[in-house]
Amino acid sequence: MLQVGDVLSAVHKTKGEKKIVVREAKLSDCEAIMKILNACILEKGKTSLTKPIKNVEEEKKFFLSLDEKEVIFVCESDRKIVGFQILYIYSKIIESTHHVAGVGTFVLPNFRGMGVGTALMKETFNFARKRNYEKLIAEVMRSNNKAKSFYKKMGFKKVGKLTNQVKIEGKYYDVIVMETLLQE
Ligand SMILES: CC(C)(COP(=O)(O)OP(=O)(O)OC[C@H]1O[C@@H](n2cnc3c(N)ncnc32)[C@H](O)[C@@H]1OP(=O)(O)O)[C@@H](O)C(=O)NCCC(=O)NCCS
Repeated sequence: MLQVGDVLSAVHKTKGEKKIVVREAKLSDCEAIMKILNACILEKGKTSLTKPIKNVEEEKKFFLSLDEKEVIFVCESDRKIVGFQILYIYSKIIESTHHVAGVGTFVLPNFRGMGVGTALMKETFNFARKRNYEKLIAEVMRSNNKAKSFYKKMGFKKVGKLTNQVKIEGKYYDVIVMETLLQE
């Protein structure tokens, strides 16, 4: 693990032993982040987000709205951003849950199954512990079996189902809630 400069930058390896770098995102990464997110939105069934981000300014506005206890990590392979993971305060308005963070993970289709998500998760866990979070939550569309397997492998447990939580074009979808306690 390597620390470079002010921005955390850690070297990881894919399952095929290829070097990948995970680091905190910068404003200039917003275009790449937007492209990955939009690709996942267009796949449908991967996220409750339905409308692609319109332009990079919209993504930048979101990025700049993040709190100091929130972060986006990006993963680079050959200097190309191939995935990102966001950690956000689960509920900003309920102070008694400020020890809880939510996570979302998005990897470009061609780079899935190689260990990118795992590398991102390691850095997010480190960040979450340093920021004194005690618990992480992932909310996954019920049909998204790969994401459920991913979070299970990362130590999350299924703790519930939110029925009809997502409504897209008049059709309802359930969401599975998964959590992991960081103190265990
Ligand atoms: C879910 C996702 C983030 C996983 O990232 P990834 O980089 O592909 O995951 P990794 O390669 O690090 O795999 C880690 C573990 O996840 C699980 N996993 C990954 N891909 C899987 C697949 N195709 N089928 C079943 N399990 C899978 C496995 O348990 C795997 O461990 P293993 O290879 O030792 O068995 C990625 O597939 C993705 O971006 N999917 C589309 C977007 C999405 O659904 N995001 C979740 C929204 S919260």
